[in-house]
Amino acid sequence: MRNIELFRRDDHRFILLNESETDEEGGIRSNQYLIVRNGRGVLLDPGGFGVMPHVLAELLRYIKPEAVDAIFLSHQDPDIIGGLTTWMELIRADIFISRIWLRFLPHYGLSDMERFVGIPDEGMSVEPVPGMPLQLVPAHFLHSEGQFNVYDPTSRILFSGDIGAAMMPNECDNPYVDDFAAHLPFVEGFHRRYMCSNRAIRCWLETISGLDIDMIAPQHGPVYRGEAVGQFLAWLRDLRCGVDLMGPGGRFDHAD
Ligand SMILES: [Fe+2]
Ligand SMILES: [Fe+2]
Repeated sequence: MRNIELFRRDDHRFILLNESETDEEGGIRSNQYLIVRNGRGVLLDPGGFGVMPHVLAELLRYIKPEAVDAIFLSHQDPDIIGGLTTWMELIRADIFISRIWLRFLPHYGLSDMERFVGIPDEGMSVEPVPGMPLQLVPAHFLHSEGQFNVYDPTSRILFSGDIGAAMMPNECDNPYVDDFAAHLPFVEGFHRRYMCSNRAIRCWLETISGLDIDMIAPQHGPVYRGEAVGQFLAWLRDLRCGVDLMGPGGRFDHAD
């Protein structure tokens, strides 16, 4: 796959960086996003250790590393943080993550903790690049206890972290979800098992209800656009998942 420019107007671009055709880490393939405005950039969920050189190579098509003014981490998972020590050697940017994960980050071998900004539970508004206001939107327990989305009001794209993530076979490389019914088999199992509860989903839906969303861009799998945005949110609204389905002995009732 190639990089996909999800949005472009004047010098504002929201880009999906496709660092490789296949999964190089033996794990799940992940998306990295770059928002660029007037030559400055913000990197969203830079990815694991194995993909870092490829993500960097793709980023260099747009800006130099020193033009990255912020790195945003939706949550604490290795597919997001794994490459961060290397990024931190290259980039002197502020790094945003939920404040509840700050105390655990040194275990990834990260030492320069003064570069991190702990996001409060309620989220915050930031403007890491002049003219690029971003909203850090709470999405806790979906799946991580401290998860944040990033909403870019210029492109109307909501970067949703693991919400909407799809486990796609490698041969499927359509960058967009246009037909939600056909896409459902790739998201259903993941959301039932990884997302914590319907209550968390309802809280998130209320949180984002005031946002004008043209696209939902998850950390794994294709980007929702057009009717698929509303169809995905409608499906999610009634989903029972996580602790809703959990029983004794480690069982999950997937049958309902
Ligand atoms: Fe995750
Ligand atoms: Fe993930």
